[in-house]
Amino acid sequence: MKLTALVTGASGGIGRDLAYLHAKQGGDLVIVARSREGLEALQVELAEKYGTQVHVISSDLTAVDAIREIAEELRDLNIEVDVLINNAGFGGHGKFHKRSWDDDCAMIDLNVKALAELTHTFLQGMVNRNRGKILNVASTAGFLPGPMQATYYATKAFVVSFSQAIAEELADTDVTVTALCPGPVATGFAERAQLDGVEAFKKNVATSKSVAKVGYRAMERGDLIAINDWKLRLLLGWIVPLLPRSMVLRLSKQTMTKS
Ligand SMILES: NC(=O)c1ccc[n+]([C@@H]2O[C@H](COP(=O)([O-])OP(=O)(O)OC[C@H]3O[C@@H](n4cnc5c(N)ncnc54)[C@H](OP(=O)(O)O)[C@@H]3O)[C@@H](O)[C@H]2O)c1
Repeated sequence: MKLTALVTGASGGIGRDLAYLHAKQGGDLVIVARSREGLEALQVELAEKYGTQVHVISSDLTAVDAIREIAEELRDLNIEVDVLINNAGFGGHGKFHKRSWDDDCAMIDLNVKALAELTHTFLQGMVNRNRGKILNVASTAGFLPGPMQATYYATKAFVVSFSQAIAEELADTDVTVTALCPGPVATGFAERAQLDGVEAFKKNVATSKSVAKVGYRAMERGDLIAINDWKLRLLLGWIVPLLPRSMVLRLSKQTMTKS
């Protein structure tokens, strides 16, 4: 059966690779981001390579009516979303009181509000059909507070918590929710978040292809959490929870310090 996946943030980075993987599996796509050009380039590529039906929606997901409009457009076209991949997101560096409130507010609107609203919009149909998968792209940032990226880390903590809670609410259905929690990945993310020179992005930076693969496979299995790197899995799952909070905060700040 052909499954349609809605992927947000598919114009580049991890989202583009997730869309690619879904197309390779034989599924159709609805791809969403602001830049129509990037989406249309992917649409042509996937149609030529895999014969994928790709519907492009150019939308700023932080706009108040964005998700209602997407839902209406898909309803008019009779497109059902079987797989929802909430991937669009961005970060930003600096002390919270010195950062622009508009930027942090947009970050909350995209990383938290749009993700929750999209989930709310499409989950009901999945439950009614007793079939569906949701992949929420969180981050390893979701497992600890992030001095110098306070809002970003908090938005990702929301995604990790929210995804697991809903997964448990759906335990008696065939609908699954997975949180993909990557460490640093080489995409446009670091530049947009002004992370040039921070420790965390100096080494062990993964490719978006490898991260997308880990996330997509985890979603197919219905795993709760997927972390792409075993060292980060060990650190965040077993070591960080045992450390004193003050030490966690200091270490976390170090990884976001510029040199
Ligand atoms: N890269 C990392 O190190 C890393 C690590 C952990 C988690 N993550 C998470 O992975 C996800 C994907 O990030 P990425 O690394 O692939 O970054 P990216 O290359 O910057 O891609 C971000 C995607 O989100 C879209 N987007 C941004 N603002 C949007 C808006 N207002 N409305 C609609 N779409 C919007 C962008 O497209 P347009 O600009 O065309 O709108 C782009 O397609 C994010 O949730 C990020 O937090 C990234």
